Amino acid sequence: MFGLRFAARRLRTNWLRNMNFRMSRRRRIFEGQAKDLFEGPEPGTLVQYFKDDASAHNSLKKGTVTGKGVLNNRISEYLMSKLNDIGVPTHFMRRLNMREQLIRQVEIIPIRVVVRNVAAGTFAKRLGIPEGTQLPRSIVEFFLKNDELNNPMITEEHITAFGWANPYELDEMMAHTLRVNDYMTGLFLGIGVRLVDFRLEFGRLWDQDEMRIVLADEITPDNCRLWDIKTNEKLDLDRFSEGLGKVEEAYQEIARRLGILPETGGDPSPTPFKRTAINER
Ligand SMILES: Nc1ncnc2c1ncn2[C@@H]1O[C@H](COP(=O)(O)OP(=O)(O)OP(=O)(O)O)[C@@H](O)[C@H]1O
Ligand SMILES: [Mg+2]
Repeated sequence: MFGLRFAARRLRTNWLRNMNFRMSRRRRIFEGQAKDLFEGPEPGTLVQYFKDDASAHNSLKKGTVTGKGVLNNRISEYLMSKLNDIGVPTHFMRRLNMREQLIRQVEIIPIRVVVRNVAAGTFAKRLGIPEGTQLPRSIVEFFLKNDELNNPMITEEHITAFGWANPYELDEMMAHTLRVNDYMTGLFLGIGVRLVDFRLEFGRLWDQDEMRIVLADEITPDNCRLWDIKTNEKLDLDRFSEGLGKVEEAYQEIARRLGILPETGGDPSPTPFKRTAINER
């Protein structure tokens, strides 16, 4: 009896030591607002860790949304895998656990590519277009990735003049972006969600002398505006930014409709959002 307890304690101590070793060996490369980046197991790889931290209005509003990191890890895995499948190159390799995914390290192009399908947010304010107006066609905008300057809007002229990307890289980014918009608009429509707008980041991936432009960062309700098609209810980070409440529930609802929320079996917990006819199928 005593021997058994002793063995169990020794096992636990060894396990803890092992864990500590593994944790301390991992070098954190970047601490972001929503994600941390760690050195990956192989050269050229990184581990992306999704946190519950939320920020809005250029970081003026900060908080946490319990479970957001876990859901975003899953949602980004799902969408990036689908995009990989249709031939859009991405940094995603595989999900490692609840909060982490393995990605290819890229040289991030310091530009945010934003696609607008419906007027919302700063776009609606800037141009005086009522929020919710369907745009005559999808509009692509560029913003410089620079928090200190509040990520100012820029044009292709700025991008090529200052060498943030060359014309070939810009072409590649545009082509990928339009494919992502076409594919994701349809995918979300199929689950009763309107893809209002979204923000992408791209990076340079080197393979010996060859360079490819690949989709990087994340695709989640943190950087997509997603509205229920019937009720126009917001199912994204705006629930946090605008203090609408039920933020985690909204992210869960997106994951549930995508079919990636593990069902608990038996009694499904009641969703706080009305289900559209499409969801009932
Ligand atoms: N494959 C990748 N290789 C290298 N860096 C990446 C990759 N994917 C994403 N990143 C970078 O990792 C960071 C992710 O962290 P997070 O999104 O939380 O940052 P942030 O605080 O929002 O700051 P930022 O304004 O730079 O996005 C971003 O700076 C993003 O550009
Ligand atoms: Mg970011």
